[in-house]
Amino acid sequence: MSIILNTDHLKGFVEKKERDAILPQIKAAHLSLEKKSGQGKEFLGWMDLPSKVTDHFIQELNALGEEVRKNSDALISIGIGGSYLGIRSTIEYLGGKSRLPIYYAGHQMSSDDLYNLLEKLKTKRVTVVVISKSGTTTEPAIAFRVIKQFLKTKYKDQELKKRIICVTDEKKGALQKIIDKEGYRTFVIPDDVGGRFSVLTPVGLVPLAIAGVDIQGLIEGAHKGQSEYAKLDLEQNMAYRYAANRYLLYKKGKIIEVLSSFYPNMFYVAEWWKQLFGESEGKDGKGIFPASLIFSTDLHSMGQLMQDGMRNIFETFLMIDQTAHPLIIPKEDEDLDGFNCVAGKDLDFVNKQAYLATAMAHFEGGVPNMSITLCKADAFHLGQLYYFYEKTVAISGYLLGVNPFDQPGVEAYKTKMFRLLGKV
Ligand code: PA5
Repeated sequence: MSIILNTDHLKGFVEKKERDAILPQIKAAHLSLEKKSGQGKEFLGWMDLPSKVTDHFIQELNALGEEVRKNSDALISIGIGGSYLGIRSTIEYLGGKSRLPIYYAGHQMSSDDLYNLLEKLKTKRVTVVVISKSGTTTEPAIAFRVIKQFLKTKYKDQELKKRIICVTDEKKGALQKIIDKEGYRTFVIPDDVGGRFSVLTPVGLVPLAIAGVDIQGLIEGAHKGQSEYAKLDLEQNMAYRYAANRYLLYKKGKIIEVLSSFYPNMFYVAEWWKQLFGESEGKDGKGIFPASLIFSTDLHSMGQLMQDGMRNIFETFLMIDQTAHPLIIPKEDEDLDGFNCVAGKDLDFVNKQAYLATAMAHFEGGVPNMSITLCKADAFHLGQLYYFYEKTVAISGYLLGVNPFDQPGVEAYKTKMFRLLGKV
């Protein structure tokens, strides 16, 4: 098993014959992608990205990672949206293990937050990766200004240059102008890969290699996804089946998808997923609202609404089959709390019973749900999951009749903010 989709709890909400009935629409979406003829066709570079990343490039990045880890105590990764979430999601999913402490900046503009970060790193050896596809995004640009000034108080000339690594478009953008003038080491984001689809480009791979993540495994998993989710067959292609189910649920008024996980290391995977789906589908007055919950924590805050609130929700559980570390529940001589019934069992067994109980209760409460289960929490399966979601959202966007690869709505606040700031 690698990744599986369970749809038992769609019974009575979505039937196979309904999925089969929209096969012509799925086929049209599939062909639009394959023939690169649909809306946003200039941004389909993510589709064959896993097969394009060479071993040589992986080695180059791993060598860079080693070099940076040797001369640094901390890494600051500057970026927002697609230039931030995939990095954090990968690190957190793998248990928060980074071989070099990694800090994030440029995804918000809290002055206290950045001040405290720089205070913390005052006496540390720091390397910075600044990531921006457009090279013009306000939040990372301003964070880079402040952090560059901080680095200048510590390093000069070649040493300063060595400690700033840029990831951006080859030709366009203000960051490229800065690189041309100041001469920093640079990695290029392919033109045909949009921000939220860029985790498997240098956007994700550069900081993840520095963090010591198994980027080879991540790419191999995505590569498996590339072949697995290419078939035009609803029963064999899990991405198309998931897309079809989501679309049918949406058409029946289930306008919110809650991604629920019983594994807290999925928190940022869900954040990445929210950006991918929210930004790709939410346009022209359409789109499923992506929300996320972490259980059991949120069962004791949002559980009531999930069970019993407005029935415009469907739920997708994101599960992990095999956890890395067994944790056996001890037996007590006197069974005062009544839990000797699970003594000798792994805590994950209880967690999985909580999941089964929740999935059943929510289904019976009128919330159709699906489950996506990953074999284990390693880079390979996450790479495959990233590709699975990218393929799903592309098909979903076309089913909805929107361009899944643009984000015109993100510009609205920027225009107003620039006016307030007097930016020319
Ligand atoms: O998906 C997208 O294109 C956006 O959400 C971007 O990732 C985000 O706005 C950051 O943009 P940039 O990398 O150009 O700074």
